[in-house]
Amino acid sequence: MDRILIRGRNRLSGRVPISGAKNAALTLMPCAILTDEPLTLRNLPRLADVDGFGHLLNQLGASTAIEGTRPDEFGRVMTIRAGKVTSTEAPYDIVRKMRASILVLGPILAREGRARVSLPGGCAIGNRPIDLHLKALEALGAELEFTSGYVEARAPHGRLPGGRYTFPVVSVGATENALMAAATAGGSSCLDNAAREPEIVDLCRCLVAMGARIEGIGTERLEVEGVDRLHGATYAVMPDRIEAGSYACAAVIAGGDLTLAGADAAEMGATLAALRSMGAEVEEVPGGIRVAAEGRPKPLELSTAPYPGFATDMQAQFMAVLALADGTSVLTETIFENRYMHVPELARMGADVRVSGRTAVVRGVTGLTGAPVMATDLRASMSLILAGLAAEGETQVSRVYHLDRGYERLEEKLSAVGADIERASDG
Ligand code: EPU
Repeated sequence: MDRILIRGRNRLSGRVPISGAKNAALTLMPCAILTDEPLTLRNLPRLADVDGFGHLLNQLGASTAIEGTRPDEFGRVMTIRAGKVTSTEAPYDIVRKMRASILVLGPILAREGRARVSLPGGCAIGNRPIDLHLKALEALGAELEFTSGYVEARAPHGRLPGGRYTFPVVSVGATENALMAAATAGGSSCLDNAAREPEIVDLCRCLVAMGARIEGIGTERLEVEGVDRLHGATYAVMPDRIEAGSYACAAVIAGGDLTLAGADAAEMGATLAALRSMGAEVEEVPGGIRVAAEGRPKPLELSTAPYPGFATDMQAQFMAVLALADGTSVLTETIFENRYMHVPELARMGADVRVSGRTAVVRGVTGLTGAPVMATDLRASMSLILAGLAAEGETQVSRVYHLDRGYERLEEKLSAVGADIERASDG
């Protein structure tokens, strides 16, 4: 299994190309099931999760063709054609490995009038139920049955009628599933307290490019007028705001001056504000964002929240930076109940973090030391990489497959700006 080795304390400077957003890609790809015409996605990141989703689409009968970009270029172009849907089932083996597979439920149901999708079960960052996905689809007219760990959804007379649903809790995935299902419903639908994440806006824009009629894009009320059919389209995946935020954290923890090429400041308000509060210099530059920092960061109080609040997907990375702050920080995780799995590993590197329920108190220390560490999820792994960039000596991060799910060629991007980082393979 691969490991990442980092020898810390190198200043970082230069340009980091930001890839297409993983979490946008994973909701744009299932849109291809909604039409028998080709959907071409540009700027698709080269990630294990994107490959995994491609395989799932293949199992459903869609073809996926990747146009080669040069090996030294980032991103890919994928054309997905679901001329016919030959299977309406997303099996347990795929869904348990990749929770985002649940996002095929709405599109298969909309296209075929029935779908059978495995229930995903728990995961490393929390319980993560899918009850809101199911309730929203029921409100749009789906009939549900549960057998042997699967949910079977049916549309009466083969087509969802559409309907209204108010989400009791903001859910990115449930909003996405409901939107895709509503796009070709027989009537109109209204989703209230919908997620407003930029990835949802990206999904809406792609659906509109395919012929969907959606009002209220970017707001908490999405109104969808179902259309008889959607057509193919070519659509470019938005830049990854979490990847960009992670490299911004690298500039602060290691000290240096990085330009995040392709990042969009308009979608990163809370992250950029938090970086500035830590003392970083943050400015929009043509084609990206520049982040520069020297010395110890200032401490912060941060609470995660749905967009436009501070993203839960940035919490672990900020904790690594704040571990070295000049004072005590308080982080509160309000989205997932178990998203502090990086804390014991950061502690092995010398961080002083006390967790009590959903709150973590981080007392800044003057230095971290390298150590062998491992993490249980993607963003936790990134926080260990960041700690390694600032630590004295060598850090070995194992279970690199977590990073490969969400960071395109991480070690290449970091070594190009001065980090001493490499991948080691045990064969
Ligand atoms: N929730 C329910 N019932 C549901 C759905 C969600 O109770 O049916 C709860 C969740 O347990 C959680 C909260 O609602 O407490 C919010 O979950 P949400 O549905 O918004 O999360 P998600 O769609 O499963 C996506 C991202 C996550 C990101 C969250 C929050 C994708 C593929 N995943 O997950 O990304 O943390 O939104 O922004 O888009 C990551 O990239 O590392 C990652 C975990």
